[in-house]
Amino acid sequence: MAIDAEPRNAGRRIITQEEAEALAALAHPDRPPPSRPRRAGLTRREALVYAMAASGALLLATGTAAMTQPSPQTDPLLSALTPKELQPLIPGGFAYPRFREGEFGGTFTLTRKASEYTTAMPPDLNPTGKFYIVKVEQPVPVAGGQIIAQQGIQAIYQVCTHLGCLIPFQAAENRFICPCHGSTFERDSRYVRGPAARNLDQFEVNVADDGTITVNTGRRFSGMPV
Ligand code: FES
Repeated sequence: MAIDAEPRNAGRRIITQEEAEALAALAHPDRPPPSRPRRAGLTRREALVYAMAASGALLLATGTAAMTQPSPQTDPLLSALTPKELQPLIPGGFAYPRFREGEFGGTFTLTRKASEYTTAMPPDLNPTGKFYIVKVEQPVPVAGGQIIAQQGIQAIYQVCTHLGCLIPFQAAENRFICPCHGSTFERDSRYVRGPAARNLDQFEVNVADDGTITVNTGRRFSGMPV
């Protein structure tokens, strides 16, 4: 009569890996626990932590960009790249520096109209705006060849293009002569002599139909290199 072979593990409970390790730890408390091979890929907890970190970084970047976004009114490059009709629609971030009308960095509306200036007059200094208004026959282009003057009205930055001294106009010479190292410029901003490497800089000028002059000291254009 055939006798069925009894299964090898009949009557025994097969324990799990964790239970086996727990029993081994009880039997040999002085042995370090066996190191388990790390599973390939991320655990659910790791994936959750990474997702939270990524969304936090995205939120921070978006907020920073919104706060510091430049506006075409204050950023020359953005202004040049943005069509004029769209510029009022781009307000800029609240952390971006803003300048009020009549303070350096902002816009100045002059009391004298364009028609009140002549090419024979000495440059008219606006000390707060740090610029001279001068009427010229031939507007002087800035670096890159652009003409900034309007109707012959130029706004010349008062700072010497050598090392930054404020430069006075010497009426007797009919020129700007820097007291620091002697750089000399024509009445219309062109370099004459001295250590400066370019013409005097200019600010953006706008002359309205009624002759009102506005100067934007937030938009400075480097003088043409010599
Ligand atoms: S700062 Fe004007 S010449 Fe040097």
